[in-house]
Amino acid sequence: MIKSGENELTQVVAFVPNTPSKPSRTPTLSDTILASAQNVQAVLAGRSLSDSLAATPASLRASTQSVAFHVMRRLGLARAVKQILVQRTPPNPLFDALLLVSLTLLDTALEYADEANPDPDKWRQAPVYAVHTVVDQAVTAAGSQHRMRNYKALLNGTLRGFIRERSAILAQARENPEAVFNHPAWWIAQVRRSYPQQWQDLLHAANVPGPMTLRVNLRQTTVAQVLDALQAAHIPAIHVRDEAIALLTPRPVNEVPGFEQGWWSVQDLAAQQAGRLLPIQPGMRVLDACAAPGGKTAHLLERADVELLALDTDQVRLERVAQNLERLHLNNSSVSLCCADAADVSAWWDGRPFDAILADVPCTASGVVRRHPDIRWLRRAADITKTAALQRSIVDALWTTVKPGGHLLYATCSIFPQEGEQQAERFSSRHPDAVRLAAPGQWLPLEKDQTVSHDGFFYALFAKMA
Ligand SMILES: C[S@@+](CC[C@H](N)C(=O)[O-])C[C@H]1O[C@@H](n2cnc3c(N)ncnc32)[C@H](O)[C@@H]1O
Repeated sequence: MIKSGENELTQVVAFVPNTPSKPSRTPTLSDTILASAQNVQAVLAGRSLSDSLAATPASLRASTQSVAFHVMRRLGLARAVKQILVQRTPPNPLFDALLLVSLTLLDTALEYADEANPDPDKWRQAPVYAVHTVVDQAVTAAGSQHRMRNYKALLNGTLRGFIRERSAILAQARENPEAVFNHPAWWIAQVRRSYPQQWQDLLHAANVPGPMTLRVNLRQTTVAQVLDALQAAHIPAIHVRDEAIALLTPRPVNEVPGFEQGWWSVQDLAAQQAGRLLPIQPGMRVLDACAAPGGKTAHLLERADVELLALDTDQVRLERVAQNLERLHLNNSSVSLCCADAADVSAWWDGRPFDAILADVPCTASGVVRRHPDIRWLRRAADITKTAALQRSIVDALWTTVKPGGHLLYATCSIFPQEGEQQAERFSSRHPDAVRLAAPGQWLPLEKDQTVSHDGFFYALFAKMA
């Protein structure tokens, strides 16, 4: 389980950070640590991890993603530990991020080493390296950068000080709730207010990586056929329910059989409910109002031959809808894509009402933090009010385009009630012609068994009185 550092990263590549004149070589753990620090620095400056990872050289991306995601899940603790150990951090944001990355990897290595029988589920996705390797490679990473060379001794001393006094330092650090739950204080307070019985479980669950869940494209294949192909490729997987299959260990899509053939899409179990909840029949006119990158658009098209319009304000993301539909063999003349603001009906609506509308509106994404662990550090408390106002404007506008007798499914990948139940209740009270039908409401990401666990989602289904 323990990774020894240099030999672990076996891909031969043409990237050597900040030493472009040197010949290509196999990337080392110090390269990964440095690239992870650059990504953590980007997040602390307000950039999303997926955007910043896209700029990381391909050869380092998988290892860097693994480390950077892990750091995001332990950032509250790393910050508190750093504050105890380093009274005056040098004014160098990259070095600051390097400290956070190295302390996290070191604490992880020490925690793993302390366990007599490490639980494979707990450690499956964690970057675990030997203690001495972490110290050595972190100091090498600092030494590889002109602007951090002077801080090598400080880094070395800090890491060794942590090894010597870890228990006392952790106890002191954990006096701060941000270090215990690894979420910002305002987020902890919000979850605690909204879920007084479950807030601690919810915050802890958000630090456990989710499974990789597939949705089988029943137009192309069957669940049994995909399970057989996975078994033949020695990829452990279970059938969760309906079209959902969970892989025990996430892996790149092109390493899983059937991706290019369009046999399946990666989609969380909770997100897979949207395509099942919206009542659609062949021939219906359907709107997917916030469609990109098209996960749910594709599911609707897999379920019924409908005439579908997919809207999104983001042209680049809309192109991904087209690519996904093409890969899944779902692009046909009954599907059209349009870059437009769903709330501005006059800009895109031809006046023909819809039988069914999916409103998977933009939100804080507080339900998917286990998959996007940077989100909690990027959001601000005020974002909840802003997104709730945007959601309201979108659903109110969309309601005018629903046919009498038609349906609108409101969905968010959030656990904050302002974007879920409160939004649905206020929608009902503003629209006396909206009948609220049975739908799951708030799905909380609390399932203990990781293979069947799911993200946090909210669903409310409305029918328009005929
Ligand atoms: C939660 S994501 C949708 C995910 C998508 N339904 C799927 O399953 O792949 C929300 C989307 O809403 C889009 N969006 C934001 N504001 C919008 C607006 N006013 N009108 C239409 N789309 C909007 C965003 O660009 C984003 O792609």
